Amino acid sequence: MAAQRPTNEADFVVVANRLPVDLERLPDGTQRWKSSPGGLVAALEPFLRTRRGAWVGWPGVPDVEVEAFADDDLTLFPVTLTARDITQYYEGFSNATLWPLYHDVVATPVFDRSWWECYVAVNERFAAATAKVAGQGATVWVQDYQLQLVPQLLREQRPDLRIGFFLHIPFPPTELFMQLPWRTELVRGLLGADLVGFQLPRGAQNFLYLAHRLAGMPASKSAVGVRTRPGIVEVGDRNVRAGAFPISIDSAHLDETARSDRVRKRAAEIRDELGNPSKVVLGVDRLDYTKGIDLRLHALYELYAEGHVDPEDVVMVQLATPSRERIEHYKQMRADIEQAVGRINGEYGRVGHPAVHYLHKSIPREELAAFFLAADVMLVTPVRDGMNLVAKEYVACRHDLGGSLVLSEFAGAAAELTSALLVNPHNVDAIKNAIYYAITLDPNEGQKRMRTMRKQVMQHDVDHWARSFLEALGAV
Ligand code: ADP
Ligand code: G6P
Repeated sequence: MAAQRPTNEADFVVVANRLPVDLERLPDGTQRWKSSPGGLVAALEPFLRTRRGAWVGWPGVPDVEVEAFADDDLTLFPVTLTARDITQYYEGFSNATLWPLYHDVVATPVFDRSWWECYVAVNERFAAATAKVAGQGATVWVQDYQLQLVPQLLREQRPDLRIGFFLHIPFPPTELFMQLPWRTELVRGLLGADLVGFQLPRGAQNFLYLAHRLAGMPASKSAVGVRTRPGIVEVGDRNVRAGAFPISIDSAHLDETARSDRVRKRAAEIRDELGNPSKVVLGVDRLDYTKGIDLRLHALYELYAEGHVDPEDVVMVQLATPSRERIEHYKQMRADIEQAVGRINGEYGRVGHPAVHYLHKSIPREELAAFFLAADVMLVTPVRDGMNLVAKEYVACRHDLGGSLVLSEFAGAAAELTSALLVNPHNVDAIKNAIYYAITLDPNEGQKRMRTMRKQVMQHDVDHWARSFLEALGAV
């Protein structure tokens, strides 16, 4: 990474809450950059590097002023967040109001006026930073729920720009969205874009309905008329398009990684380290209450308890990236999960042979590919998820057509991976049955399912996603 100051005005700019790298402060007082967590960065970073774009975002720690710098073919423009911004805008409004509300209120959203004010202020800061970076007539692609006001704020300052917005998480049913005290402001913020993209058609439909209902109200501050027709919102003399663009992964790269001798050897080693059980069951998630980690542990516990599955034969590995650790719901969930793991191991493990191996850390990409290749059963059981890239990553790693994917119906990925073993994660018996079915699956059926899923994932990769979004944006 070269610490040089970029000079050119960018013609393609991504704006996201996080930069693709996080500044990490080490105990000896030094600092270094590490890869940022989550699906947004995992998907966008490889694509953006090929575009030599600019990326505006937060460097992941409070109160640091970092100069813009070049990172290989990417130019990074850090936006400073204060400790207060992190509490109110990031942990507060973004992750304790919008995140639970948009994920079907699986946790109760908190509505706090001071958090909202901070969300507005930080969105203004991101818009101002982007207005400085973008060249005349540039394309700006704003990402995710943390920055829903940026499209409109940016348009006010820079009407010359072409602005796209993509929501990585679900857009909620209209009745839930209507709970938000600031619902009209958010819809107006999004309508500043030329194209608003969602993971699924349902999200786009919900948005179109709300745009009609909220932004067009005569009592609203804006004097412009708002009309909707299929896929389009007319805002004054502008057309805003809304549509579904299911995100994906760098499938070919992951496929190649998983085929390498190093990864295959490591996958065999992992099975060996686990004591060569007959079946390895895997979970890989950011440690988030939407991911249904507790539900799958509960199902496994019952399978052991009822004697359907033998802990000598079937072991589970749960890899969990630490996430949003100061937020109360996350603290509680971590405690619950660790208690559940302790309970299973206390009752069904033995010395040197736990039934569930649990790691609370981020795993390097290659090592993760080895885990995917080593796992006979992959459990992806979110109660709600915009897409869930882990499901696609597992499929991309299974060039051997081995392994079974148990996938929640409530993950966006279920719309594409219809040959997975689809389950309702709220139904513990359904998860138990799916795990048992996957463990005892006829290999021919397993291969057939995997072949169909691989076709989908290899053809619809992240490049396909980005190109279809940007082509649609170009055509507006
Ligand atoms: P989200 O965006 O909500 O975090 P996704 O499943 O869409 O969920 O994306 C998660 C990304 O984080 C994937 O690329 C996945 O491989 C990665 N990931 C999840 N858990 C870990 C882990 N323990 N170590 C490293 N990467 C992880
Ligand atoms: C999800 C969100 C992203 C977010 C990521 C990691 O993928 O859609 O916007 O960056 O989770 O969460 P964090 O709060 O650590 O940025």
